[in-house]
Amino acid sequence: MSELVVVTVPLPEPVLGWLGSRYALKIWDQTTQISEDLLAEWVQPAHGILCSVGTPVTKKVIEAAPALRVISTISVGTDHIDLASAHHCGVPVGFTPDVLVDSTADMAVALMLAVTRRVPEADRFIRNGGWHAGWSTGFFLGTDLSRATVGIIGLGPTGQAVATRLRGFGSQLIGWNRTPRVVEGVELTDLETLFGRADIVTLHTASTPDTYQLVNAARLAAMRDGAILINTARGALVEESALARELASGRLRAGLDVFAEEPLPQDSLLMQLDNVVFTPHLGSATGPTRQAMIERALENLSAGMTEEALPWQVKSE
Ligand code: DGY
Repeated sequence: MSELVVVTVPLPEPVLGWLGSRYALKIWDQTTQISEDLLAEWVQPAHGILCSVGTPVTKKVIEAAPALRVISTISVGTDHIDLASAHHCGVPVGFTPDVLVDSTADMAVALMLAVTRRVPEADRFIRNGGWHAGWSTGFFLGTDLSRATVGIIGLGPTGQAVATRLRGFGSQLIGWNRTPRVVEGVELTDLETLFGRADIVTLHTASTPDTYQLVNAARLAAMRDGAILINTARGALVEESALARELASGRLRAGLDVFAEEPLPQDSLLMQLDNVVFTPHLGSATGPTRQAMIERALENLSAGMTEEALPWQVKSE
């Protein structure tokens, strides 16, 4: 077996078995991220890279691999891959669209409910032995999704799936998309109106140079008192230090699945705040969804290794 695939993401045994029956493998199975230098060394003789969101596949890595035929990521997001360099070097990039839409939309709504109904806070309250008094009318009050105006930023498949769910809750929906898009029950607005009107802002747009820190200090300041930011897309969409300041002041609340730096550093100011609910990048984390993502990524990898068109190839600019 002379063809080499570098695998930078831990995978289930049967998947490794399948890969190992076809290719020589070099596998990074640590929970920490492989360094750029080591990855650049590993890929020198490689024909394929199988990776996911935790591994930056940089210009240096791509240029270090003259025999590279394909980069296949087990993710829909591709902001960890230098697409321009891949394009320049003629290396196709495969990704896994569509199959994680519902799981990610569910997670966005889960975070909305967790924040509005204070679920983790109430859980901590009981566990920490705080529940001594009985039921009372003003105890742990939250807010209702049925009374909320929700601003959806990004009306692609995941934004639309969130809209479908929230129509069922009776929320009022407003939305923004880079190219205006008609979505049932969603009133299109500009970004400034959306930030000023929404009780909940939820992010479903890709992370690109254009959307970097789209949720900046000024837009956070324009949000209503008590409003909630939900992010299941990418940390780079948010000016995180400005968000931490708004949360620390107690003016806003948040539900965050993704962060500027992952894992979220223990000394992050966000860690000290009670008005934010965290999940560790779990938007697509259900068994069937991850299985479907892996299957797509393997199909992309196999096609690229035999220099066929990838079934799910990222379009180059
Ligand atoms: C993706 O696919 O881009 C998610 O962020 C990870 O599942």
